Amino acid sequence: MRSVFSVAAGLSCLSLATATAIIPDKIYGVNLGSWLLLESWMLPGEWLQMGGEQCNPCSSCIATEFAFAQAYPDTVDQKFEEHWNTWFTGDDVNQLKDLGINTARIPLGYWIIEPLVDRKTEFYPRGGIHQLRRGLKQLKDAGIVAILDHHALPGVAADNQQFAGQCTNTPQFYTDYNYNRALVWAAVMTGLSHLHPDFSSVFAIEAANEPLMNATLTPGYGDYQKKFVQTVRAMESLLGIRARTQNRRASTDSSASFNATEIFNGVSPANCRFTGEICKVILEALPILVDVSLEVGGFDLHSVFGLAGQPQLMTNFMDVSWQSAGPAANPADAAMGPQGYDNHLYYVFGGVADPNPKAYMTSICNLQRVQNAQASRNIPLWFGEWGLPTQFSATDAFLRDWADAQKLAYTKGAGWIFWNFKVEISEEAGDLAREWSYMEGVKRGYLTRDPAALHNPNVCDPYIN
Ligand SMILES: *[C@@H]1O[C@H](CO)[C@@H](O)[C@H](O)[C@H]1NC(C)=O
Ligand SMILES: *[C@@H]1O[C@H](CO)[C@@H](O)[C@H](O)[C@H]1NC(C)=O
Repeated sequence: MRSVFSVAAGLSCLSLATATAIIPDKIYGVNLGSWLLLESWMLPGEWLQMGGEQCNPCSSCIATEFAFAQAYPDTVDQKFEEHWNTWFTGDDVNQLKDLGINTARIPLGYWIIEPLVDRKTEFYPRGGIHQLRRGLKQLKDAGIVAILDHHALPGVAADNQQFAGQCTNTPQFYTDYNYNRALVWAAVMTGLSHLHPDFSSVFAIEAANEPLMNATLTPGYGDYQKKFVQTVRAMESLLGIRARTQNRRASTDSSASFNATEIFNGVSPANCRFTGEICKVILEALPILVDVSLEVGGFDLHSVFGLAGQPQLMTNFMDVSWQSAGPAANPADAAMGPQGYDNHLYYVFGGVADPNPKAYMTSICNLQRVQNAQASRNIPLWFGEWGLPTQFSATDAFLRDWADAQKLAYTKGAGWIFWNFKVEISEEAGDLAREWSYMEGVKRGYLTRDPAALHNPNVCDPYIN
């Protein structure tokens, strides 16, 4: 057991003048999918070369990070290090910058905060946090802001999905034990985002990617939403970061100094400034924050300034409409301070429109999701995942219209984040990149080079009801 003193001493080394990023006026973004959370369908050739397998259901072979780490305990870290270094590079950042991309959503697993992993029963690669730091720094240097997306949650939040990190048909995220681990993750990420200069590209932390759509199957998720916001705000409050009513830009005021002793006093059981459970979460998170910070390095130990001038992070949730069945909690009820909402829309999986071009265009051109979100107080709303895939064989001309019409619909909200910045181009992948890769879509002319532009601003005119 570490003494509070040693943790406090560690923490006091971490205080720095960094400025957390703020949300762009309009988000033109891409997901950095399959980087720190690998989904093998997006890189079938590389996955086979690494030693992975393909199968259906995905639980029956080495199709996920979990299965891979379990099968190759001795080489998993090195294999993933290679993948992390090559899948997302400085060249990619430069290309995204050239293309006017201003936002990156970064899907992450809980295991990137390594002390949260129970190594007796859970198997994941180690070392991702160094890569996250590397990528955030490159994004920051390019002026691209970032969302840390808790995409693969402890215990697994969705059944038989590669994006959940492990394929299983018994997701266990919706339990006290795993909600608690996700809250500790959020506290650590909040601390890093405010304290570490390379993390200052972060403007939002997303509590959970795509929970089960049937709220009956996610007991406690509404409570988790509230505790997630309380955790982020408690951490910020302890760091001296408070709500500001008007100007959310970072000020240069460093008069309020960072005091580790006060931080511990604020969450000690005897003197808990927040609800008891949040103090427990923060007390659990502080030593992890120190360990992870020392591990990741890169703090300038000589600059010790207050953090009071930093803007608060945005807390971020899937919008209330995501849980379309059962008694869904409205994340707007959890908000304290800046909060954003994430909507995902894919036509290719069915259930949205009939599988033909006219039905797709009619649906997207009359989309009501932004208005509905507004009515539920879920604003600002952005479209954090979308793409060009269709259920039919689309012509090049259709894909241009399809890209335009989607961008038109999504910029009625706070903007959009394409899935994905790229996918593998290989024999094994076939033509996957045509509809799933932002960079390839631009290259082939479906997506305009300037993300704010459209080929045809009147593309929806014939379809509007
Ligand atoms: C930090 O806060 C504690 C408790 O309020 C106080 O006793 C101490 O003097 C403070 N340290 C500094 C360096 O301001
Ligand atoms: C949601 O889950 C409950 C409990 O399993 C089930 O009874 C209900 O039919 C489900 N609703 C939908 C729309 O699938």
